[in-house]
Amino acid sequence: MIAEQSLRNRTLLTWYGEHRRGLPWRASTDPYPVLVSEVMLQQTQVSRVIPKFESFLEAFPTIGHLARASTNDLLSEWSGLGYNSRALRLRDAARLIDSAGWPTTSTDLMQLPGVGRYTAAAVASISFGEPIAAVDTNLKRILSRWEGDALDGSDLERVAALSVDDDAGTWNQALMDLGSALCTPREPRCGRCPVSTWCSDPSIYEPPARQSTFEGSRRQLRGAMVRASVNGGDPRKAGYALDRTEDEIESVLEDLEDEG
Ligand code: ADE
Repeated sequence: MIAEQSLRNRTLLTWYGEHRRGLPWRASTDPYPVLVSEVMLQQTQVSRVIPKFESFLEAFPTIGHLARASTNDLLSEWSGLGYNSRALRLRDAARLIDSAGWPTTSTDLMQLPGVGRYTAAAVASISFGEPIAAVDTNLKRILSRWEGDALDGSDLERVAALSVDDDAGTWNQALMDLGSALCTPREPRCGRCPVSTWCSDPSIYEPPARQSTFEGSRRQLRGAMVRASVNGGDPRKAGYALDRTEDEIESVLEDLEDEG
């Protein structure tokens, strides 16, 4: 069993070595770009994060630059990613790290503002070599299929802890790429999967109903209103231009004011 699992991990990591996406935050294991990318990726898809990540790191090349960023510059760089409170919390985290140094374990990373279990595990494994699985919906889907059991809660955590490779940083990212290229929520490409030999039941996972699209979403409205504000324009006008109701616009304005 252990030998089988080790073989599965070796096969997965070999596949990853050949097929990994050359994402800009994978250029190094420096915790600063890794943390920035993981926070951006919390609610935004990879293709939208890539250009934002690159311009953000040009604007704030070190944790010290981010710690000292003005709110206006920060939100201007964040614009397009949505959920501005994430940017403000990331700056709070940068200020703590700038004065006290990097926490180097997932437990300590989780004490930082805006850093939950998943983000802490991703940074700890990628940048500090902690052998911990970063458990998210992607990992849940893949492990459920491997096990042939719809895993959740403590069962999911247990299987993740037992499955993770010693090189957890690479393993976590290999699973992100496997989940995005082959082990997708709908119609997984099992015929091309390097580890299908060790997979029990791809049909065990039931994909949730499709999310509403970006067009017409609150995220789209927020993005437009923030862009208008940081460019010195009227956020309400940006809302009207998207044909939104007074209520929607007011509600987003309230959020933005709450978040400073
Ligand atoms: N999603 C969350 N973290 C990621 C990463 N490091 N690479 C690709 N997708 C991700």
